[in-house]
Amino acid sequence: MKQALMGVLLLVSLPLAAAGMGEAQGLYLQHCAVCHGADRFGLTGPALLPESLARLRRAAVIDTISAGRAATQMQGFAGQLTPTQIAAIADYLAMPPAELPRWELAQMKASHTVFAGATDLPDKPRFTADPLNLFVVVESGDNHITVLDGDRFEPIHRFPTHFALHGGPKYAADGRFVYLASRDGWISKYDLYNLTYVAEIRVGLNTRNLAVSADGRYVLVGNTLPGTLVVLDGYDLTPLKVMAVADEAGQGSRVAAVYTAPPRGSFIAIMKDIPEIWELPYTTEAVAWPIDSGSLHDYRAESGEAFPVRRIRLERHVDDFVLDPAYEHLIGAARDGTVQVVNLTAGRRIANLPLTGMPHLASGITWMRGDRRVLATPNLKEGAVTVIDTQDWKAITRVPTLGPGFFMRSHENSRYAWVDSSLGPARDTVQVIDKETLEVAKTIQPAPGKTASHVEFTRDGRYALLSIWEMDGAVVVYDAQTLREVKRVPMVKPSGKYNVWNKTRLSEGTSH
Ligand code: HEC
Repeated sequence: MKQALMGVLLLVSLPLAAAGMGEAQGLYLQHCAVCHGADRFGLTGPALLPESLARLRRAAVIDTISAGRAATQMQGFAGQLTPTQIAAIADYLAMPPAELPRWELAQMKASHTVFAGATDLPDKPRFTADPLNLFVVVESGDNHITVLDGDRFEPIHRFPTHFALHGGPKYAADGRFVYLASRDGWISKYDLYNLTYVAEIRVGLNTRNLAVSADGRYVLVGNTLPGTLVVLDGYDLTPLKVMAVADEAGQGSRVAAVYTAPPRGSFIAIMKDIPEIWELPYTTEAVAWPIDSGSLHDYRAESGEAFPVRRIRLERHVDDFVLDPAYEHLIGAARDGTVQVVNLTAGRRIANLPLTGMPHLASGITWMRGDRRVLATPNLKEGAVTVIDTQDWKAITRVPTLGPGFFMRSHENSRYAWVDSSLGPARDTVQVIDKETLEVAKTIQPAPGKTASHVEFTRDGRYALLSIWEMDGAVVVYDAQTLREVKRVPMVKPSGKYNVWNKTRLSEGTSH
């Protein structure tokens, strides 16, 4: 509440950017601020800033304000406000606040909670299921997570999350703890053995994603609003360091994504607005990899600082990337569609990749085909999967699919890779590609007319779990060999599912 009042004072004292916005702002303060905050940073309701609403069209925002959201605190305002007033509020929400919003260490600390007794619970699961074959399933339809037994495909537990989880939950190495990031900047730590939250903190107003160090000691969060990197203690989420992201000339930037690179003992961050990749070492031990001039090893020895930043400067920036299994190369795509291969140790671009459309590298996967490791990526703009030889970085083939897609998944023990077409008209299909012949082996339509997306395998690779991405959706379990359906578990818009083993063992068939 204190935060809301500060927001009122701030807004009232600012000149409004557009004439006529005064009325909209007044309506907002009267009808909406109580839940969304006078500063629009969010309170019991989510943040309503341009960054937060970027994924919704104006019509969808107007529809939400008019009709509300079923089974939530968000009631419809069609009875109280005229269509013109609602449209004016929607336009007001699309405007950035007059002053750049800040979220600093003091605000983070004020939001930090360590739940009583939650840091010293038994180091033993409260259930009999294999703790390394659990799936965390994010049900974005009603902001819950289901913990699914990966052997019996039975839910073990279901619990509420912050609004709009973002960027994928991340496990600590032993798989006991899972860390969640929400669009509005809330980071939570959850204990999967004891099925309870450990701690939470709000580290920003709009967050991209988080990464966990290999030893579980640190969590790095990348924010878009404000453009910061925040290091948290992996134990209880105490904030340790906040870094404003900027190039050396002072040009600030949003963070596009953060990753952990266990063999390098470092975090990797890519930036949206400056052509730089940052590498932040999180271990102080010497890590054995080639030491050449400018290598991270030298750099770390020179710097006494915690989380020193090694800047890798590029000609073009990347805002979507995948790391090769050795964590030696970063393959990154820019918004203009160009793709470059950066050798992280040398700190420079070594190749450009012959890709068209908009490859979605973050869900790219690799496998051994004969004696060559190949990289395959779906495409956000074209109905095709491109397969690249990672030795010479040349394209081997383009596998035509039924439409542009988002996710691609496989497993070491499976001969198939799965890809969706969820961004095109054939969004209710997924296709299964033979990893040897590089041809589509089967097209599956689990629920006609309903979006099918995001596949993840069980620990042993025997089963593939697919999402039907609807409010009355499901996780559909397939035998990964025969491609036959085995089971359907009802879920509320299950946007993603994350297998503990495959994520913590860095399976080549999934992203990490
Ligand atoms: C009683 C609390 C409450 C009030 C009052 C309220 N909202 Fe909401 N609003 C919510 C909650 C909770 C959600 C999240 C609903 C969900 O889970 O999808 C929400 C969601 C929204 C969303 C969708 C956000 C997104 O990212 O999907 C918009 C837009 C929105 N509200 C606008 C408004 C406007 C404009 C007003 C005033 C006219 C208003 N709300 C009043 C609680 C409230």
